Amino acid sequence: MGLKSATNPDVEAVAIELSIDGKPVTAKDGVSLYDVISSTGKIIPAMCYHYTFDPFGSCGMCLVMQEGKKAPVRSCTAKATAGMIIRTEGDDLFQARKKAVEKHLSVHPLDCPVCDADGHCELQDMAFRHGVTNLANAKQKFIPEDTRSPVLDFNMNRCIACAECINVCKDVLLIDALQFMKKGGFNQVVPKGDLALSCEFCGDCLAVCPVGAITNKFSKYLYKPWQMK
Ligand code: SF4
Ligand code: SF4
Ligand code: FES
Repeated sequence: MGLKSATNPDVEAVAIELSIDGKPVTAKDGVSLYDVISSTGKIIPAMCYHYTFDPFGSCGMCLVMQEGKKAPVRSCTAKATAGMIIRTEGDDLFQARKKAVEKHLSVHPLDCPVCDADGHCELQDMAFRHGVTNLANAKQKFIPEDTRSPVLDFNMNRCIACAECINVCKDVLLIDALQFMKKGGFNQVVPKGDLALSCEFCGDCLAVCPVGAITNKFSKYLYKPWQMK
């Protein structure tokens, strides 16, 4: 992982042409397909995408159909190449994205009313947007909350494993205080070495988290921080 090469002015690539929803689009060869689609003004659903970082490709939301492929492709990790024919809309894509939301929610606590991110949560938005109202075979993780840090609490039951908190801390702040670790059968975000978090406590990891997995110990359960802005 690292900062996206497309943001590096030293990187040069040849211009190519591809088709998106029937319209010709010019892009740089090898750039994330998601970025090329966004450059046309279309915003397709995405949760683990962040314009700053190399794509992580974990949420399964940014699906598009590429001519010649049977299954939808993740547009954030797919690279634009010359002659690609891409479709970004359709009931098949809606249903595939809905399935991805259901998969996340099937292991996610339904504790929105007491979650700091309630009303400002990308998973909640995706569930609403895709009409997710019924979850078959839901199974909670029941991971104990990590309250060892003096400021931030980590609720890994809510984590969708997008890696944005880890990336912002490592590549933007250059502090590198967080990591993924397999614990209790789940891939969890933990402070480096799985010790109590010791860092600058800038809060940027909390700010980029698309759900409510990282919370401010002092405001938790008192108010929704995004409503105070
Ligand atoms: S508060 Fe800032 S320094 Fe600490 S883990 Fe989060 S992003 Fe890194
Ligand atoms: S804690 Fe939040 S930002 Fe970090 S990986 Fe989980 S969902 Fe993503
Ligand atoms: S945004 Fe592409 S997989 Fe998450």
